Amino acid sequence: MKPRYFLLAVLSLLLCACNRKPAPRDLVVYFSLTGTTEQLAQLFAEQTGGELLQIACETPYPDSFEAVIAESGPEVKEGTCRPISNAPVDLDAYRTVYLGYPVWFGTVPPPVRTFLSNNDFGGKNVVLFCTYGSGGVKSSTRAVVKLLPETRILGSFGIAARRMAYAPQEVADFLGGLENGGSDDAEGYCEPRPVADSDMAVFRKATEGYDYLNLVPLMVSVREEPGTCSRIFVCESSMRGGEPRKVELLVLQKGEEDPYLQSVEHIQE
Ligand SMILES: Cc1cc2nc3c(=O)[nH]c(=O)nc-3n(C[C@H](O)[C@H](O)[C@H](O)COP(=O)(O)O)c2cc1C
Repeated sequence: MKPRYFLLAVLSLLLCACNRKPAPRDLVVYFSLTGTTEQLAQLFAEQTGGELLQIACETPYPDSFEAVIAESGPEVKEGTCRPISNAPVDLDAYRTVYLGYPVWFGTVPPPVRTFLSNNDFGGKNVVLFCTYGSGGVKSSTRAVVKLLPETRILGSFGIAARRMAYAPQEVADFLGGLENGGSDDAEGYCEPRPVADSDMAVFRKATEGYDYLNLVPLMVSVREEPGTCSRIFVCESSMRGGEPRKVELLVLQKGEEDPYLQSVEHIQE
């Protein structure tokens, strides 16, 4: 190659390199009061390569569980946005925003509500992840959809705090599923039928330690897939002596492992 052409080739390569935009990044933003959601956020950051950002309250919540319940209950009921110390974020710089929170009263905690209203999510891809005692993925996702009607929610991941040991694999499976376009969670179940003795045995095993939910199973739908049997139990639940409400329990049984309670969701009547 003549030296003149060689120089031109080098120059054009350099120009291309200068014009190239940085690769789009992912943001993993989360609120966590007692550290469980923080652990989950770290897994999402590791597995997506995303940047971590913690939502921090201007005035922290008190230390005791009872005091947090007393302070946050009215905030949630009234839809208050608790002030946070995070400045608004330029979300345009990110490809996907992974938003994590603990389920509080079946919905997102007030500081997360504040983050959602302080930032421009228009046209963004958002993935939700949460931790909980017994459930609330669906109800909290509905709350986020209401707050961000223009935003694409690509999927919602949830795990009970007591099952965090399984989180690395479950997050990997969830992210792999998202890459393949996600799946319809409601597909493939048989029509609801009365609860048979074999279902009852699975129900009892999966709900050990959830006595406070006072669950009475009414009907069950079953889906069999290679390696996994999923059951949705429609139950009556009178939590902490309150009025009985209908709830849906998702119970999973993988291979030879014991069945476990994946989540509890209130049925909207
Ligand atoms: C104020 C408050 C409300 C809660 N409400 C629910 C709830 O509605 N459903 C549920 O399953 N767990 C509920 N929990 C339990 C938390 O979601 C669960 O312990 C979570 O893993 C805590 O995450 P963190 O350690 O990141 O704060 C609540 C906890 C608190 C403090």
